[in-house]
Amino acid sequence: MTLEISALAAAHPLVDGRTTNCPLVRAARGDRPEAAPVWFMRQAGRSLPEYRESRAGTEMLDACLDPALAAEITLQPVRRHKVDAAVFFSDIVIPVLLAGVGVKIVPGRGPVLDEPVRTASDIMKLRPLDPAALDPIREAVAIAVAELGDTPLIGFAGAPYTLASYLVEGGPSKEQLRTRALMRTDPHAWAALLNWCADVSGAFLRAQVEAGASVVQLFDSWAGSLSRGDYQRRVAPHSKRAFDALRGLDVPRIHFGLGLADRLDLIPALGADVIGIDWRLPLDEANERLGGRIPLQGNIDPALLQAPWPVLARHVDDVIERGQAAPAHIVNLGHGVPPETDPAVLTRIVEHVHGR
Ligand code: CP3
Repeated sequence: MTLEISALAAAHPLVDGRTTNCPLVRAARGDRPEAAPVWFMRQAGRSLPEYRESRAGTEMLDACLDPALAAEITLQPVRRHKVDAAVFFSDIVIPVLLAGVGVKIVPGRGPVLDEPVRTASDIMKLRPLDPAALDPIREAVAIAVAELGDTPLIGFAGAPYTLASYLVEGGPSKEQLRTRALMRTDPHAWAALLNWCADVSGAFLRAQVEAGASVVQLFDSWAGSLSRGDYQRRVAPHSKRAFDALRGLDVPRIHFGLGLADRLDLIPALGADVIGIDWRLPLDEANERLGGRIPLQGNIDPALLQAPWPVLARHVDDVIERGQAAPAHIVNLGHGVPPETDPAVLTRIVEHVHGR
């Protein structure tokens, strides 16, 4: 038997002190810093003119694999908005691409596969991710972290169900009908597919943490289309497997999913330290469902980014007040920044949250 020993390196920002006591890490560990930490899902991206300029002429996934460019885009929202964290600029399909599966991001649509993965034999052909393929990710993270100083970097990955739904459907899909049919038709192939997704996402998370990410977030954007029972039996164990790839590395873990209000009680057992809540469920109610035991993240309604400032400010205050019920609170949106958002509104939210 071999004993696996792993730990964060001495030069990791959580170990050398740069991010050990920053507001985001403190809140993720259940504490309440003087001002609530705030960041935005999809803060790096099309809402920023500097992003559109940096990306001009480069395909999305090529930009993710160019370490200097990915690091630059990661830093842009921190410089502009003074958010409490950077989120690594990449995409949930990057580890799939690096494992040899043909995929592109079609603007206005999302990830599209060259060939969908629909049968047991398609699934058998999926190869493990070669750890060396993640080198451009490690390099981009290292560049960003060196620039960030005491601002933490959040690493992320797609949860196995969300990733599998892109593989099976071949592209974005509202209802994931083929995916859910496969889940019930061929449970063995399904389990193999979800394990493969968990392993590529897990390796992607681990590479980001080893290279300097101080917090991670697992995104399960589509699991809300499943029944609670299917989620619990056929999906949740694989989400746990993705988090388990971080064994030995003591970084706070955030889980974010859409439409999971009826199964929040299942999330802590996946290995999550913080639960991200979408805009539909008030944070005080989420806290009650969780028995008051776990820090929450969220959940400003992204729709209100278009509302007049007094309406938005009242909503932000309400989110913060409801968040007081939880042991700790990280302010965020209830889903990603819509591309048409005026970035000045995001900067103003950060000032407002920090000034309270
Ligand atoms: O700032 C950040 O949050 C970090 C970067 C990030 C991106 N994608 C960059 C990106 C993160 C965390 C993601 C996660 C992601 N990607 C998810 C999970 C979160 C969620 O939003 O539910 C999903 C489902 C994807 C798949 C994906 N990639 C979609 C649906 C799209 C949008 C396609 C479109 O054009 O509408 C992408 C592309 C993508 N990922 C962009 C960015 C900045 C836009 C690329 C562009 O500039 O054209």
